[in-house]
Order: sequence, then structure tokens, then C-alpha cells
Amino acid sequence: MTRAGRALAVLVLLLAGLGAAVWWLGVRDAPEDRAAAVPVAAEEARARGAYLARAGNCLGCHTLRGGAPYAGGRAIETPFGTVYSSNLTPDAPTGIGHWSADDFWRALHHGRSRDGRLLAPAFPYTSTTRITRADSDALYAWLMSQPPVAQANREPALRWPFGTQAALAFWRALYFRPGVQASDPSQSAQWNRGAYLVQGLAHCAECHGARNALGALKAGGAGGGQLALQEGYAPSLHDRAEAGVADWPLAEIVAFLKTGQSARGHASGPMAEVVLQSTQHLSDADLQAMATYLKALPQVPDAKPSAQATAKPTGAARVQRGARLYEDHCARCHGERGEGVPGAYPALAGNRAVVMAQTTNMVHAVLHGGFAPATAGNPRPFGMPPYVLVLDDADIATVLTHLRSAWGNAAPEVTELEVNRVRAAQAR
Ligand code: HEC
Ligand code: HEC
Ligand code: HEC
Repeated sequence: MTRAGRALAVLVLLLAGLGAAVWWLGVRDAPEDRAAAVPVAAEEARARGAYLARAGNCLGCHTLRGGAPYAGGRAIETPFGTVYSSNLTPDAPTGIGHWSADDFWRALHHGRSRDGRLLAPAFPYTSTTRITRADSDALYAWLMSQPPVAQANREPALRWPFGTQAALAFWRALYFRPGVQASDPSQSAQWNRGAYLVQGLAHCAECHGARNALGALKAGGAGGGQLALQEGYAPSLHDRAEAGVADWPLAEIVAFLKTGQSARGHASGPMAEVVLQSTQHLSDADLQAMATYLKALPQVPDAKPSAQATAKPTGAARVQRGARLYEDHCARCHGERGEGVPGAYPALAGNRAVVMAQTTNMVHAVLHGGFAPATAGNPRPFGMPPYVLVLDDADIATVLTHLRSAWGNAAPEVTELEVNRVRAAQAR
């Protein structure tokens, strides 16, 4: 064999070895996969499953707007294309009617379908992998007791090569390990329960975490998550200037998750959906546990007074125009001095959603308006009207710049381009 021939043979062997390793990491079953089903009384399991499905907001992703509950078909947008959620009703040909509790556990725990297909991580199995076998069985029992709906699953529409099984195997080799929630003996039982819910079932980090170029969650928690289609920015739970709640009293965190409202902040946009569909239905004990865990999350060090430092002085004409627009369109609800009305209209003075570096949510709120979630604690939330047809991009940028620099707020200006990006993405 020539030298080039030998080198080529070695290269081919190396590539084959790498391929086999990737494949193995992608499809191997961890020992826990064979964890035995846990026998529980059927009625009890179903009730528990219904509750757990709330905690995991399975309904939110697995239901088409206006469609049958759990019949799937909802488009989940990702930077790599669209994935459609699956039919989880017990219909035999199209849903999970033929599935065993083992098959179901393998999907949640290992991200593999009944036929062995590797599932796309648009299904947050990087979080659901922490669900216990007992909780998986309860979810299964409950879903199997729902009315079957015949609705065929849609193939994912991911750009080549992202949807291929080889690409998924590669991704999983890099970023996914089937996990169990290890309890931390140095923490209270309450903290551990909170960690289980927040990191596992409720998959909070799937929105709130920053992602790398291949869509995997970054470790550490600095920076929040940019949601697809400019739908919003889920601020970091590890940053006091974003969504960190380390400084909030425990009761305010519980109130936020239970009612969508609190003295410290309120839920809007995609977070309003989470409160509406999921957290408002959880028991007080579980909300206390989640709040305990969230409050104890390590926080990134406070940034330098960056906002003030980079806030560029805005021209006098623009300042006046901003104040004028605010007066005409916003003051009647948010108050002359941005003080808001407690329980009805959020204060804009001192509001971290207004001075946050990421402006997407604020632009979104003004373009499209919004409602806080309707919850038992706040049954008739007040609404914010949409200004998409009332104000142009320049005016919206000007009034938002006013918000960010008035009443003690000190954050950099909002540009017309930032508004234009959100408007264009939503118009598609
Ligand atoms: C963020 C959206 C989202 C949430 C939340 C979510 N799912 Fe899914 N799920 C998906 C998507 C998308 C797929 C399809 C993935 C694919 O086709 O590769 C899926 C697939 C599945 C599958 C595999 C079905 C099959 O036919 O292979 C099961 C089982 C499942 N989900 C159960 C659940 C349960 C139980 C919950 C709640 C604890 C849940 N999902 C929450 C988006 C979600
Ligand atoms: C579907 C994506 C999504 C999921 C899942 C999600 N969030 Fe959020 N969250 C957001 C967005 C977007 C915002 C910013 C809008 C707002 O402030 O309400 C937000 C805001 C927040 C805030 C800041 C509120 C404020 O006023 O400062 C907290 C705290 C929070 N979320 C906690 C959670 C917890 C706990 C979970 C898990 C139970 C969770 N989120 C799950 C998208 C999400
Ligand atoms: C009819 C009353 C009303 C008017 C007029 C109004 N808003 Fe609002 N605004 C609300 C309500 C209610 C919310 C909370 C909505 C939600 O939770 O989705 C809100 C939310 C917001 C938010 C998000 C705050 C946060 O904490 O997430 C911003 C920013 C905002 N408004 C700015 C404006 C601006 C700028 C104008 C004028 C162009 C305006 N609003 C006019 C009622 C109003």
C-alpha cells in the first residue's frame, strides 16, 4: 500500500469509529430506561397525571389553536425550521393508542419515539428526561383515559441536514444525556421539589436559557432566550436586571406564578400563556417550592452602570416628540409620571422590562398590545391596545426612547430598526 493509501485507510477507519460513537451516544438506552413501571391505583394515577400535565404544559404545545386537546399538529418554530407536535390522544393508528407505559417513558426520558426514531429537541426532552418513572406512568395513565382523536402526525419541516436522524444523533452525542433528577442533600426538601419542577416538568430554562448556534442550551445561565419569530425574549432567571427573582419576597414570586401579577412584575406575552395554562393550576405547596428554588438561583454579578454609561443624549426635538406621544397615547393608563395603577396598568417608571437591554418584548407590547393572563387571582385583566396601525416605527421608537429616559429610567434609545424587525417578523 502506498503512503497515501495507508493514510486514507486510517482516515476512513477514524471516521467510521467517530460515526459509530455518535450513533451509539444517540441511540443507546441508559439503564434507567428499563426502570420498571410503578404500580399505582388507576384512579389515583390519572388524577396525578392530569396535574402533572398542567405542570408540564403538555397541552400548550400539543394542541392546535382551536383544535382537539392533545391531538398535536401545532407548529413549533425553531431556527432550523418547523417541527409539529405529536398526537398524544389514545387513537391507535395516529396517536399513542398502541404505546405501552415503557414506550411513553422512553419518549420523555430518552427522546425516542415508539418506532425508535430520534425526536427533535423542539420537544423539550432535554428537560422531561428528569421526570421520574412514577410521574411518567401517571401522565401516561391520564393521557390514555382521554378521548381518542384521529389526526395524523405531520413530518417535521427542518432544513437539510438538521432533520436527518444522523444530524439528530450527532446533536444528541454533543448535548444530550438521559438524566435523572439527583436530589441535593445539602438543600431542603422544598428546594429539591422546586428544582425537580423547574428544571424538569415545567422546563422553564427551555425558554429562559441562552442557546448556542446549534440550538443547545448554554450552561451557566447568563443571558436569556430569544424566542423564535421575534415572539419575544425570555429574560435570564439568573440576572437581577432581567428575570432573576433573588431579591423578591417569596410571596411575590408565588403571586406572580399563581396570578400573573405581583408588586414586582407581571406576566405578559408567552409568559402569560405559561401562567394561564400551567402555573396558576399548581398547588400552593408546589409554587412555594418553585419560588424557593428560583430565589436561590445563583445570579450573575450586577453589570456596571452600563445603561447610564451608554445612554446617548437624545436630540431636544425627539425628547419633546416622545413626551408628546406619551401624553397623547399612553398617559391615561400608565399615568402622567409612568406610575401606573396597581393591579391594572403596569408602572413604566422603574420597570425592568422597560430598561432591559433587550427591547423586543417592549416593542412587541406596543405593536400588538396584550393581556395579562386571566387567573382566579386576577379574573378580568386589563388590556393594552395594539398600536400597529396607529403609530409608525419612528414614533414607536421615539415614545419607547422617552419611556427609557424619563422618570429616573436611564437606558439607551430604541432605534427605528429595532421596531421594524419585530413588525416585519410578525407580518410574515
Ligand atoms: C415546547 C413544546 C412542547 C412541550 C411543552 C411538550 N411537547 Fe411533547 N412534543 C413536542 C414536539 C414538537 C414533538 C414532536 C417531535 C418530533 O416529531 O421530532 C413532541 C413529541 C412528544 C412525544 C413523542 C410522540 C411520538 O409520536 O413520537 C411525546 C410522548 C410527548 N411529546 C409527550 C409530551 C408530554 C407528556 C409533555 C408534557 C410533560 C410534552 N410532550 C410537552 C413539543 C412539546
Ligand atoms: C414559552 C416560553 C417561556 C416559558 C416556558 C417560561 N417563561 Fe418565564 N418568561 C417568558 C417571557 C417571554 C418573559 C418576559 C415577559 C414577561 O416579563 O412576562 C418571561 C418572564 C418571566 C419572569 C420575569 C417577570 C418579571 O416581571 O420580571 C419570571 C420570574 C419568569 N418568567 C419565570 C418563569 C418560570 C418559573 C418558568 C417555569 C415555570 C417560566 N418562566 C417559563 C417566557 C417563558
Ligand atoms: C388602555 C390602557 C393602556 C394604554 C392606552 C397603553 N397601555 Fe401599555 N399596558 C397596558 C396594560 C394593561 C399592560 C399590561 C399588558 C400585559 O400584561 O400584556 C401594558 C403594558 C405595557 C408595556 C409592557 C410593560 C411590562 O412590564 O411588560 C409597555 C412597555 C407599555 N404598556 C407601553 C405603552 C405605551 C408606550 C403606550 C402608548 C403608546 C401604552 N402602553 C398605552 C395598558 C395600556
